[in-house]
Amino acid sequence: MFPLRSVLLVCLVGLCICQYYEYDYEPAAQSMPSSPNCALECNCPINFPSAMYCDNRNLKNIPFVPTGIQYLYLQNNLIEEIKTGVFDNVTNLRWLVLDHNNITSDKIQSGSIDKLGKLEKLLFSHNKLNKPPTLSTKSLDEVKFIANQLTTLPSGLLSGMDNLTAIHLARNKLTSDGIAGAFKGLKSLMLLDLSENKLKKLPAGVSASLLMLYVDHNDIEGVPNGYLAKLPALQYLRLSHNKLADSGIPAGVFNVTSLLELDLSFNKLQSIPEINEALEHLYLQVNQISKFELPNICKIISPVNYSRLKSLRLDGNNLTQHSMPDDAPSCLRQASEIIFD
Ligand SMILES: *[C@@H]1O[C@H](CO)[C@@H](O)[C@H](O)[C@H]1NC(C)=O
Ligand SMILES: *[C@@H]1O[C@H](CO)[C@@H](O)[C@H](O)[C@H]1NC(C)=O
Ligand SMILES: *[C@@H]1O[C@H](CO)[C@@H](O)[C@H](O)[C@H]1NC(C)=O
Ligand SMILES: *[C@@H]1O[C@H](CO)[C@@H](O)[C@H](O)[C@H]1NC(C)=O
Ligand SMILES: *[C@@H]1O[C@H](CO)[C@@H](O)[C@H](O)[C@H]1NC(C)=O
Ligand SMILES: *[C@@H]1O[C@H](CO)[C@@H](O)[C@H](O)[C@H]1NC(C)=O
Repeated sequence: MFPLRSVLLVCLVGLCICQYYEYDYEPAAQSMPSSPNCALECNCPINFPSAMYCDNRNLKNIPFVPTGIQYLYLQNNLIEEIKTGVFDNVTNLRWLVLDHNNITSDKIQSGSIDKLGKLEKLLFSHNKLNKPPTLSTKSLDEVKFIANQLTTLPSGLLSGMDNLTAIHLARNKLTSDGIAGAFKGLKSLMLLDLSENKLKKLPAGVSASLLMLYVDHNDIEGVPNGYLAKLPALQYLRLSHNKLADSGIPAGVFNVTSLLELDLSFNKLQSIPEINEALEHLYLQVNQISKFELPNICKIISPVNYSRLKSLRLDGNNLTQHSMPDDAPSCLRQASEIIFD
């Protein structure tokens, strides 16, 4: 499975709009003969005998899973239920891919997913879960519940998952109270995607290992003082489409050296927030900014002190090219893209 792992890594390390990386990679599958004890409905490539592909087959039920399978692909079917005992032959399953089915939480019977003690990837996007399934694994490295109906994530659910690097929870109904304590102590966590939920605050207690935090399309009104100082590795922060106003942005809260990309577009800011020289991409389009305050971008301008900003978007504000102070070019000397309209 190395090609897949490297795709994920590229996503994590790279610019990472990679919501939909190719996990349904089939090594010259389909045309290959299937190994003899494979479920009839599925395909188990002989050159990759630990994988069983049952995706895109209009399945209503999970087929029998023979001993030895470690990677199980069930995406794009019509599965509604996960019955007790379905995984009894494969309690060492490592990947379980259930995206795009019709599974509700009340139809996940005990003695199914909760028996999988070695699970590393649980991909459950585009189903109808209103609460996460019970897990007994501590070895998860990635969990995806995009586009379900989750309102809470119990605080113990993910605890002790030391290898968990990516949590995808976009497009649910999670509230700030509903996720309180859920991400505590996850020491390998790099990506947390909580966009398109119902959060009023940024998530608390997130691990210092985090590289990417996506909380766009929520109802967040402010950033607590010192929040980013506790996330010394954070490079990408997406806060667009929230309810941020100047009163919710304490002085210097974004002035941290790790941040490369800060997206504050589609909010209610009236001024350009103070940023650090190291920031490379600042998105402020569609706010209510009417003044170009250069000191918030460059406190000092000198041959060695200048902003690393490469792109700055200010369109959809009350600003034009002429709002820029005369010394802006010496501060923004790396900017190849400054957009006013
Ligand atoms: C377990 O494997 C055996 C033999 O391959 C098969 O007959 C049985 O149906 C499997 N059980 C389940 C729950 O998949
Ligand atoms: C999904 O499940 C619901 C009941 O939970 C059912 O009404 C609906 O028809 C199912 N959709 C599909 C595509 O099977
Ligand atoms: C994390 O991954 C390492 C290396 O693959 C493994 O040895 C360890 O058991 C895993 N930790 C957990 C909690 O599963
Ligand atoms: C950011 O913080 C540094 C020191 O931590 C300070 O020297 C600098 O003036 C601050 N930048 C802005 C734009 O206020
Ligand atoms: C910016 O200027 C200050 C004061 O002159 C200096 O201490 C600092 O090291 C400079 N920053 C960089 C990145 O050179
Ligand atoms: C927009 O900017 C102009 C020129 O700076 C200023 O006169 C005007 O009051 C601003 N309008 C608003 C709504 O802030």
